[in-house]
Amino acid sequence: MNDRGALARAFLCQQIELGMPDIILLPGSRAAAACMLPAKRPERTPTPAVRTPKTLPPAAKAGEKPRLLPVSRLMAAPEKRPAVADDPMRNALVALYSAEKDCAACGLSAQRKTFVFGSGNVHAPLMIVGEAPGAEEDAQGVPFVGAAGELLTAMLGAIGLDRKKDVFIANVLKCRPPANRTPEAGEIAACKRILTAQINIMRPRVFLLLGRIAAHALLDTADSIASLRKEVRSVNGVPAFATYHPAAMLRNPEYKRPAWEDMQKLRTFLTELGAYAATN
Ligand code: URA
Repeated sequence: MNDRGALARAFLCQQIELGMPDIILLPGSRAAAACMLPAKRPERTPTPAVRTPKTLPPAAKAGEKPRLLPVSRLMAAPEKRPAVADDPMRNALVALYSAEKDCAACGLSAQRKTFVFGSGNVHAPLMIVGEAPGAEEDAQGVPFVGAAGELLTAMLGAIGLDRKKDVFIANVLKCRPPANRTPEAGEIAACKRILTAQINIMRPRVFLLLGRIAAHALLDTADSIASLRKEVRSVNGVPAFATYHPAAMLRNPEYKRPAWEDMQKLRTFLTELGAYAATN
């Protein structure tokens, strides 16, 4: 099997290991056969070997759920972070969080439980931008922890990235729109300055934009994701990949295959950039 085939197979197997709904498997398909799906789950067998480029960290272990903390709590745990003076980036983010956490620039603040600032490694080369918190995110204060978040975590794991250690995840909106409705233009305009400030502090090397709202907010375009995903765009000179939002993938399984291809392109790009070389 070629490298692409091996990766696809590993991803599918990993999805099953993680208990995710089928990605693109059809019963009796060649992929299903490749995974040798048992009727009953046997003793855990190792995921088939994937040729992981040296420059990326190994894939997260199947079934391993990272314990996620809101960035506010990570930042508030002094024993887990370098001395304040050692980390100006973290200090700047703490200051931004403190200045904005009670933001009332739009009507969403009235209903929020939590201001969802972002989570992950503030020094990560890759910043992932989604749309807005949902109910779970609003309750926990962490982006992408609901069903779409589980899919995102698995997609990252499939290209060897750990969502806690290797990326920073934020949303265009920091507060949940009622009933998860699409963010309004006024809300995006009011909230974008916070995302822009986060980007200016963290200066990621690459973006992954999940869905139309994130792509339109940062790429200043109205092009469809189907068109945007065909080429690498730029956010103020920083390469930006756009792909389907995991929630859209859950609603429309036909998006999963192109999104999988996008993740492979991202992986290749990060490898060629040497973006993760220093973490090995
Ligand atoms: N959860 C998030 O944090 N962002 C989204 O865009 C969707 C779900």
